Amino acid sequence: MTKKQLEESVAYLQKKGFENPEIGIVLGTGLGELVNHVENQIEAHYNHIPFFPLATVEFHTGKLVFGTISGKKVVVMQGRFHLYEGYDFIDITYPIRVMHMLGISKLFISNAAGAVNLNYKKGDMMLIEDHINLQGGSPLAFKNVSEFGERFADMSEPYDKGMRAKLIDIAATNNITLKSGVYASVVGPQLETKAEYRMLKILGADAVGMSTVPEVIVANHLNLPIVAVSVLTDECDPDNLKPVNIAEIIAIANKTEPKMVKLFQELIKQL
Ligand code: HPA
Repeated sequence: MTKKQLEESVAYLQKKGFENPEIGIVLGTGLGELVNHVENQIEAHYNHIPFFPLATVEFHTGKLVFGTISGKKVVVMQGRFHLYEGYDFIDITYPIRVMHMLGISKLFISNAAGAVNLNYKKGDMMLIEDHINLQGGSPLAFKNVSEFGERFADMSEPYDKGMRAKLIDIAATNNITLKSGVYASVVGPQLETKAEYRMLKILGADAVGMSTVPEVIVANHLNLPIVAVSVLTDECDPDNLKPVNIAEIIAIANKTEPKMVKLFQELIKQL
């Protein structure tokens, strides 16, 4: 990754009309519906944007959508890149750097995750308070990182306190259950064993998933305030573990999606 590549990606998008977005939004698996609430849409497919990684997973649409929500300019990633697709840390976080260069000053993230905290149930949403990186690498571990920012990025408060408080308020006002907790990221794509779920619990994770953390690290590197919400799609009970059902995971994400859309829409209104 070079600055010149990023500039070319950004120039392509600006030429299409992606001008001065305020908020960037990354939508997770089964959570792409928010784009239907974007007004005056302009689209750019990932495989048309210079230097963007190519989209692979079939249930991700793979496009960047620009427009307005509640009158604010947003850029939405419908479908993200995962390590388990064979990309590296630099690839999967490239779009975050592009959105930052386009001008966003806030980043919203969603994902589907398993509930390690057994007080949390499938269909619940969890506001991410903190995370544990179990992906065995960093999106900041490259030679010329200091051209892009501080190599030793601070991670003492990776998720913006002010926006978290606002989301908690919004959830309460709208009678939406919003738990909060620690998200652990793994590479995947295989799900966890019983022993791994036990380990995750001991480590202090409330939820586990295969994304988000690299994006959050890069956003912190860019001093971009973040808020992130997990939709809990399965219960990771090591003493009663059922075989994984990906169709069900996606169905639960889809079913919970309207509540997540509501949270994000209201937060956009308040910013
Ligand atoms: N583990 C990892 N990733 C996930 C899970 C899980 O149980 N559920 C949804 N994404």
